[in-house]
Amino acid sequence: MMLDQTTSDMPGQLRFVELPHPSPTPPAERAARLENPGFGRVFTDHMATIRYSEAQGWYDAQICPRAPFQMDPAAGVLHYAQEIFEGMKAYRLPDGGTALFRPRANARRFRASAERMAMVPLPEELFLESVRRLVKVERDWIPPIEGGSLYLRPFMIATEVFLGVKPSAEYIYAVIASSVGAYFKGEAPAVSLWVSQEFTRSAPGGTGAAKCGGNYAASLVAQTEATRRGHDQVLFLDAVERRWIEELGGMNIFFVFDDGSIRTPPLGGTILAGITRDSIIQLARDRGLTVAETPYAIDQCQADAASGRLVEAFACGTAAVVTPIGRMTLGENEFVIGSGGPGQLTQSISQTLTAIQRGTAPDPYGWVDRID
Ligand code: PLP
Ligand code: COI
Repeated sequence: MMLDQTTSDMPGQLRFVELPHPSPTPPAERAARLENPGFGRVFTDHMATIRYSEAQGWYDAQICPRAPFQMDPAAGVLHYAQEIFEGMKAYRLPDGGTALFRPRANARRFRASAERMAMVPLPEELFLESVRRLVKVERDWIPPIEGGSLYLRPFMIATEVFLGVKPSAEYIYAVIASSVGAYFKGEAPAVSLWVSQEFTRSAPGGTGAAKCGGNYAASLVAQTEATRRGHDQVLFLDAVERRWIEELGGMNIFFVFDDGSIRTPPLGGTILAGITRDSIIQLARDRGLTVAETPYAIDQCQADAASGRLVEAFACGTAAVVTPIGRMTLGENEFVIGSGGPGQLTQSISQTLTAIQRGTAPDPYGWVDRID
């Protein structure tokens, strides 16, 4: 439960000002946009913003109309990429209420990312309040479709105007919201991975465990190569031996074996500590399954797929939820995992997790954070 605890670190009381949009999207137009939103292209009318300066601390908290930022061309983020973000979802509950999933864990990770990037950590209570307030205002943007949710993207950028290389003394923190359906648009029942043997995503001592934009920039050339070769996602290996499986560009990875045990790469500072990953480990252990957080070599993975010992694999994350992995390509060799489609345990874990998130199953862990 460690992930869900917040540190109470509010410096006095910062009040949010709510500035409603002067011409919000008409309900009929919104309904049309929510029919088939895809992922990350439909945005709501409002955003949350808070500013920081060394002189004033955190100030000017607003829920305001979503609008472009005015930024000086010398703002730190544009040059040295001091930027972090989070990803979380709000769900519609069966009784019409709204809930977030483990938001305190996101608040805590946002703080950890800020510390790694030498940014000023946003008090966790402010993070939670900004997200909850925005969801309350935008609850009607949760698509009423299967798998629909409101994806929240809290982020922070360095805005000090200065070209010397140093941590910024000014920041903008903001939360935007996007109505989303499934992350993967294909009809395929499982995704395919291309293993990157040349490009790595992060290295020991680097920023792999932080959710900073730079990690994603570093992953794009490999993701582009994966797409060019007809695969859905790239799978990264460790930067030292290029042998140990780490994670995908935006998801963690799990493997299921024929003895019913599960394995996922350990958190060693080079991969993101996924909240979905943590939740799945808990759910699997509570079913009595053995879950190992131990390194798994890509050559062993290929051998286990061939021998039938490896029966399922899946990717997981807030955006992707639980996504079955059907095949992988390592060098010139493509191999199929299990049936090549969604495995039984993958489907069952996915159902349990999404039922808790959407309030259709009991929540024994206190993960669901009801907003209204
Ligand atoms: N790994 C990376 C690199 C990610 O971007 C994400 C998505 O946030 C994850 C893993 C999964 O993390 P979470 O389950 O907290 O969304
Ligand atoms: C998320 O799952 O929230 C992410 O940030 C991953 C990204 C691929 C959208």
